[in-house]
Amino acid sequence: MSNLVEIHNLRVKFNTDSGEVNAVNGISFNIKKGETLALVGESGSGKSVTARGIIRLLASNAVLAEETKITFDGKNINTYSEKEYQKIRGNKISMIFQEPMSSLNPIYTIENQISEVLKIHDKYSDKELKNKCLELLKQVQMPEPESRLSQYPHQLSGGQRQRIMIAIAIANNPDLLIADEPTTALDVTIQAQILDLMIKLKNEIGMSILFITHDLGLIQKFSDTITVMQDGEIVEQGDTKTVFSNPQHAYTKKLIDSEPEAKKETLSEKNSFMDVKDLNIFYPLPNRNFFKKEFFHAVKDVNFSIPRQSTIGLVGESGSGKSTLGKALAGLIDFKGSVLFDDLSLESILSSSPERFIGYLPQDVLMNPGSVAENIAGLRNPESEQVVKVAKNSCKTIEHYL
Ligand SMILES: Nc1ncnc2c1ncn2[C@@H]1O[C@H](COP(=O)(O)OP(=O)(O)O)[C@@H](O)[C@H]1O
Ligand SMILES: [Mg+2]
Repeated sequence: MSNLVEIHNLRVKFNTDSGEVNAVNGISFNIKKGETLALVGESGSGKSVTARGIIRLLASNAVLAEETKITFDGKNINTYSEKEYQKIRGNKISMIFQEPMSSLNPIYTIENQISEVLKIHDKYSDKELKNKCLELLKQVQMPEPESRLSQYPHQLSGGQRQRIMIAIAIANNPDLLIADEPTTALDVTIQAQILDLMIKLKNEIGMSILFITHDLGLIQKFSDTITVMQDGEIVEQGDTKTVFSNPQHAYTKKLIDSEPEAKKETLSEKNSFMDVKDLNIFYPLPNRNFFKKEFFHAVKDVNFSIPRQSTIGLVGESGSGKSTLGKALAGLIDFKGSVLFDDLSLESILSSSPERFIGYLPQDVLMNPGSVAENIAGLRNPESEQVVKVAKNSCKTIEHYL
């Protein structure tokens, strides 16, 4: 495979009030035609600055060193003017970012935003533009593509917005797609769909992908080669399989070792401590009908047991009911069904000694204003004595371990 991009001695520094920041310290690497190259490294190691340096979208306080040389498809592009760069951005090289909402313009329709990038070529009539937009929405497997054209970004889910970003990025069949942490903001199942889509399109279009991520699982699944950055330098490069099976640099070893390993033992022999039977949880909906109260059924007929001294992972997409289930088990919200701790019902525990049985740490404990106890209880209804008791007990336990 020949090289599509050759990056030679890329060096970027930033002028800041507190002096110069050396972000990328003279790195060199190539991206082959048709290759998916994963750029990995901890936050602040220089991945995004590298990507932006290639496409020349650097912040105004950035200084690109004179000795940096970037060749794209055999042409030396580091001498290009901003006008010349505009011709290749969104056309031969395109980029998608982590947070699609900040990259899409909230006041334009989806059709407007996709058309905008198609107009670079000046070759489509208005009707052709509309057809091409629709074709792209189908290509990125957007559900109900026809009705999306007139919609605005806020009417779409996170995964659907990312599909729009991909449609815009591939509109002109680029040679290189730079994807900077494109799925970090998405649920795991949507993440997998978006990456599968990117790989499918890569093969259809025949493009290369510079895939920036800190997720080693995704790298193993999707990339051909891996380039590891640390403090603005490249510390290791190679074929993904080889690097994973035989990492050379200490930092790469640490990175790979930091991935938690799957547990091998099973819990089936252990006896259960907690038994949940036919758990159903309903949230009241705002009153639309005076005579009939309506409810949202958030958790439906859930049954499971938790063995003694075990850690149970509860996974699911956002909105699937995980937190609701957790709150119910901590006695913070009402439910239907039965929850038994060592054959005692949750109701009887809450009225006697909840602190013996339950500690609860909510999702955003560090982000909410309010007292630690309130946060730990996730309190909406501070009248409930049991809830406060559980919370205070959790505080004590946390203090004990801090
Ligand atoms: N506009 C800027 N001004 C000053 N420093 C910056 C700017 N952008 C990035 N940096 C610094 O450059 C370094 C690399 O950043 P970045 O490429 O965004 O890291 P990564 O993408 O690997 O998390 C960091 O130290 C960061 O703080
Ligand atoms: Mg980054």
